[in-house]
Amino acid sequence: MSEVTVVIGAGSIGQAIARRISAGRKVLLADLHQGNAEAAAEVMSDAGFDVSTATVDVSQRASVHQLAETAARLGDVTAVIHAAGVSPSQASPATILAVDLYGTALVLEEFGNVIAAGAAAVVIASQSGHRLGALSAAEDAALATTPADELLSLPMLQPDRVTDSLHAYQLAKRGNSLRVMAEAVRWGKKRARVNTISPGIIITPLAKDELTGPRGEGYRRMIELCPVRRAGTPDEVGTIGALLLGPDAAFITGSDFLMDGGVTASYFYGELAPQ
Ligand SMILES: NC(=O)c1ccc[n+]([C@@H]2O[C@H](COP(=O)([O-])OP(=O)(O)OC[C@H]3O[C@@H](n4cnc5c(N)ncnc54)[C@H](O)[C@@H]3O)[C@@H](O)[C@H]2O)c1
Repeated sequence: MSEVTVVIGAGSIGQAIARRISAGRKVLLADLHQGNAEAAAEVMSDAGFDVSTATVDVSQRASVHQLAETAARLGDVTAVIHAAGVSPSQASPATILAVDLYGTALVLEEFGNVIAAGAAAVVIASQSGHRLGALSAAEDAALATTPADELLSLPMLQPDRVTDSLHAYQLAKRGNSLRVMAEAVRWGKKRARVNTISPGIIITPLAKDELTGPRGEGYRRMIELCPVRRAGTPDEVGTIGALLLGPDAAFITGSDFLMDGGVTASYFYGELAPQ
């Protein structure tokens, strides 16, 4: 039986991680936009990978369920890279919560059902989740464990409480890390692991929308003033992804890896601190 890598969100970060771990495996590239999946498939196929494509909308349960079944038919699903998402400049608060928060909960649930023993997954969260102020213990627990289909009904996520896209994104990404912690328990029963990576600004089409969008100045300031003094690249996320999906991370599950060039450190203790 072949081993299968599933890439959900065949964008820059998803592809970069997949390339690091998928030699000799089948790669299923899934995206909301079939054209994105096909573009990724062409590049990876030209580089020697065994690829196929699928269309998925992670905010629709039936669509995620179908993708999980398609993946399981290809072989043993031993790697899942969940890198689908929309950023604050790309979508409304409601869409961000539906895609980034609910969509991730669906992916973890549906793929947790088909995941093979010994498998691992990574979910791409964000540094944004680290800048959100502390939530109450009850709010943390609600984001971590509320059944997926009830998540978007939580009072803390209603339009009167979440009025802007950045706040929605921060909540969604904090929610991703919490959800992964809770799911790591269930995945462990199948001898599978799951972790989040919380990248800072990584130059991709999504980041370019942020850098040229309404919050562009703030993003450029983060790049200039963070300790590393540059943005990151998808390949650097690929390095952490490869670690977390591989045997060297056999003792790591339910964890979140912040890799942001020190933006969060500077936000709390340096030049990027809010005035
Ligand atoms: N680039 C950054 O600076 C950065 C930083 C932190 C976190 N992230 C996160 O990384 C992930 C990947 O982003 P990227 O930078 O590679 O961007 P990208 O735009 O290259 O890739 C994102 C992909 O997700 C797909 N997508 C969007 N909505 C979808 C849906 N409903 N169902 C399925 N696919 C959908 C898009 O079509 C796109 O191909 C996102 O979750 C993003 O929030 C990015």
